[in-house]
Amino acid sequence: MRVAIASDHGGIQIRQEIAKLLDELKIEYVDFGCDCETSVDYPDYALPLAEKVASGEFDRGILICGTGIGMSISANKVKGIRCALCHDTFSAKYTRLHNDSNILAMGERVIGPGLAREVAEIWLTTEFEGGRHANRIGKIAEYENKHL
Ligand code: RB5
Repeated sequence: MRVAIASDHGGIQIRQEIAKLLDELKIEYVDFGCDCETSVDYPDYALPLAEKVASGEFDRGILICGTGIGMSISANKVKGIRCALCHDTFSAKYTRLHNDSNILAMGERVIGPGLAREVAEIWLTTEFEGGRHANRIGKIAEYENKHL
Protein backbone atom coordinates (compact mmCIF):
# COMPACT_ATOMS: atom_id res chain seq x y z
CA MET A 1 0.00 0.00 0.00
CA ARG A 2 1.23 3.51 -0.89
CA VAL A 3 -0.04 6.37 1.29
CA ALA A 4 0.11 10.14 0.72
CA ILE A 5 0.00 12.45 3.73
CA ALA A 6 -0.36 16.22 4.02
CA SER A 7 -1.46 18.90 6.44
CA ASP A 8 -1.87 22.64 6.68
CA HIS A 9 -0.15 24.68 9.43
CA GLY A 10 -2.85 23.49 11.88
CA GLY A 11 -1.92 19.81 11.55
CA ILE A 12 1.86 19.55 11.48
CA GLN A 13 2.30 17.74 14.80
CA ILE A 14 -0.21 14.99 14.03
CA ARG A 15 1.17 14.63 10.51
CA GLN A 16 4.61 13.95 12.04
CA GLU A 17 3.05 11.39 14.39
CA ILE A 18 1.36 9.67 11.43
CA ALA A 19 4.67 9.60 9.54
CA LYS A 20 6.24 7.80 12.55
CA LEU A 21 3.34 5.33 12.62
CA LEU A 22 3.71 4.60 8.89
CA ASP A 23 7.45 4.00 9.43
CA GLU A 24 6.66 1.57 12.25
CA LEU A 25 4.02 -0.24 10.20
CA LYS A 26 6.51 -0.33 7.26
CA ILE A 27 3.95 1.29 4.99
CA GLU A 28 5.37 3.24 2.06
CA TYR A 29 4.37 6.91 2.10
CA VAL A 30 5.15 10.33 0.70
CA ASP A 31 4.80 13.45 2.86
CA PHE A 32 3.52 16.41 0.82
CA GLY A 33 3.96 19.03 3.59
CA CYS A 34 3.25 21.71 4.55
CA ASP A 35 6.73 22.51 5.83
CA CYS A 36 6.12 25.89 7.38
CA GLU A 37 4.49 27.23 10.53
CA THR A 38 3.02 30.18 8.64
CA SER A 39 -0.57 30.12 7.52
CA VAL A 40 -1.32 28.14 4.34
CA ASP A 41 -4.62 27.27 2.61
CA TYR A 42 -5.89 23.72 3.20
CA PRO A 43 -7.37 23.27 -0.34
CA ASP A 44 -3.84 23.71 -1.75
CA TYR A 45 -2.88 20.51 0.08
CA ALA A 46 -6.14 18.54 0.04
CA LEU A 47 -6.97 18.84 -3.67
CA PRO A 48 -3.62 17.72 -5.17
CA LEU A 49 -3.40 14.84 -2.68
CA ALA A 50 -6.97 13.75 -3.43
CA GLU A 51 -6.20 13.79 -7.15
CA LYS A 52 -3.18 11.56 -6.56
CA VAL A 53 -5.39 9.05 -4.72
CA ALA A 54 -8.21 9.27 -7.29
CA SER A 55 -5.73 8.63 -10.13
CA GLY A 56 -4.33 5.53 -8.41
CA GLU A 57 -0.86 7.02 -7.90
CA PHE A 58 -1.49 6.41 -4.17
CA ASP A 59 -3.84 3.86 -2.61
CA ARG A 60 -4.81 6.01 0.37
CA GLY A 61 -4.34 9.48 1.81
CA ILE A 62 -4.31 11.08 5.25
CA LEU A 63 -5.04 14.82 5.64
CA ILE A 64 -4.76 16.89 8.81
CA CYS A 65 -5.86 20.46 9.49
CA GLY A 66 -7.12 22.27 12.58
CA THR A 67 -10.55 20.65 12.56
CA GLY A 68 -10.16 18.18 9.69
CA ILE A 69 -13.28 19.73 8.17
CA GLY A 70 -11.67 21.94 5.52
CA MET A 71 -9.50 19.05 4.37
CA SER A 72 -12.45 16.64 4.17
CA ILE A 73 -14.74 19.10 2.35
CA SER A 74 -11.99 19.81 -0.20
CA ALA A 75 -10.94 16.18 -0.74
CA ASN A 76 -14.54 15.07 -1.25
CA LYS A 77 -14.86 17.45 -4.23
CA VAL A 78 -12.56 15.14 -6.21
CA LYS A 79 -14.34 12.43 -8.18
CA GLY A 80 -13.69 8.98 -6.73
CA ILE A 81 -12.72 10.25 -3.29
CA ARG A 82 -14.46 9.01 -0.17
CA CYS A 83 -12.83 11.07 2.56
CA ALA A 84 -13.90 10.29 6.14
CA LEU A 85 -13.43 12.75 8.99
CA CYS A 86 -12.80 10.55 12.05
CA HIS A 87 -11.93 11.43 15.61
CA ASP A 88 -12.72 8.06 17.17
CA THR A 89 -11.64 4.49 16.49
CA PHE A 90 -15.19 3.17 15.95
CA SER A 91 -15.77 5.55 13.00
CA ALA A 92 -12.30 4.79 11.63
CA LYS A 93 -13.03 1.05 11.64
CA TYR A 94 -16.52 1.29 10.15
CA THR A 95 -15.67 3.81 7.47
CA ARG A 96 -13.19 1.27 6.13
CA LEU A 97 -15.54 -1.72 6.56
CA HIS A 98 -18.61 -0.01 5.10
CA ASN A 99 -17.53 3.02 3.02
CA ASP A 100 -14.14 1.86 1.71
CA SER A 101 -12.94 5.40 2.49
CA ASN A 102 -9.75 6.18 0.64
CA ILE A 103 -8.79 9.32 2.58
CA LEU A 104 -8.80 9.87 6.34
CA ALA A 105 -9.10 13.44 7.68
CA MET A 106 -8.42 14.46 11.27
CA GLY A 107 -8.26 17.73 13.20
CA GLU A 108 -5.26 18.52 15.39
CA ARG A 109 -7.26 21.05 17.40
CA VAL A 110 -9.84 18.34 18.12
CA ILE A 111 -7.79 15.29 19.16
CA GLY A 112 -4.31 14.69 20.50
CA PRO A 113 -1.49 12.78 18.80
CA GLY A 114 -2.09 9.57 20.79
CA LEU A 115 -5.70 9.14 19.71
CA ALA A 116 -4.91 10.32 16.15
CA ARG A 117 -2.34 7.54 15.92
CA GLU A 118 -4.84 4.89 17.04
CA VAL A 119 -7.50 6.21 14.67
CA ALA A 120 -5.00 6.11 11.78
CA GLU A 121 -3.73 2.64 12.66
CA ILE A 122 -7.22 1.12 12.67
CA TRP A 123 -8.11 2.96 9.48
CA LEU A 124 -4.95 1.73 7.73
CA THR A 125 -5.32 -1.90 8.79
CA THR A 126 -9.06 -2.50 8.29
CA GLU A 127 -10.24 -3.97 4.99
CA PHE A 128 -13.45 -3.09 3.13
CA GLU A 129 -16.23 -5.64 3.74
CA GLY A 130 -17.74 -5.41 0.23
CA GLY A 131 -21.12 -7.11 -0.37
CA ARG A 132 -24.09 -4.83 0.23
CA HIS A 133 -21.69 -1.99 1.03
CA ALA A 134 -20.17 -2.25 -2.46
CA ASN A 135 -23.66 -1.63 -3.92
CA ARG A 136 -23.99 1.48 -1.79
CA ILE A 137 -20.68 3.02 -2.75
CA GLY A 138 -21.49 1.97 -6.33
CA LYS A 139 -24.48 4.32 -6.17
CA ILE A 140 -22.17 7.20 -5.23
CA ALA A 141 -19.89 6.37 -8.17
CA GLU A 142 -22.94 6.17 -10.47
CA TYR A 143 -23.98 9.66 -9.38
CA GLU A 144 -20.45 10.98 -9.93
CA ASN A 145 -20.29 9.46 -13.39
CA LYS A 146 -23.61 11.04 -14.36
CA HIS A 147 -23.24 14.47 -12.79
CA LEU A 148 -19.56 15.33 -12.21
C1 RB5 B 1 -6.71 27.12 9.79
O1 RB5 B 1 -6.73 28.17 10.69
C2 RB5 B 1 -7.96 26.27 9.94
O2 RB5 B 1 -9.05 26.98 9.46
C3 RB5 B 1 -7.79 24.96 9.19
O3 RB5 B 1 -6.69 24.28 9.72
C4 RB5 B 1 -8.96 24.01 9.26
O4 RB5 B 1 -9.37 23.81 10.56
C5 RB5 B 1 -10.06 24.28 8.35
O5 RB5 B 1 -11.03 23.54 8.25
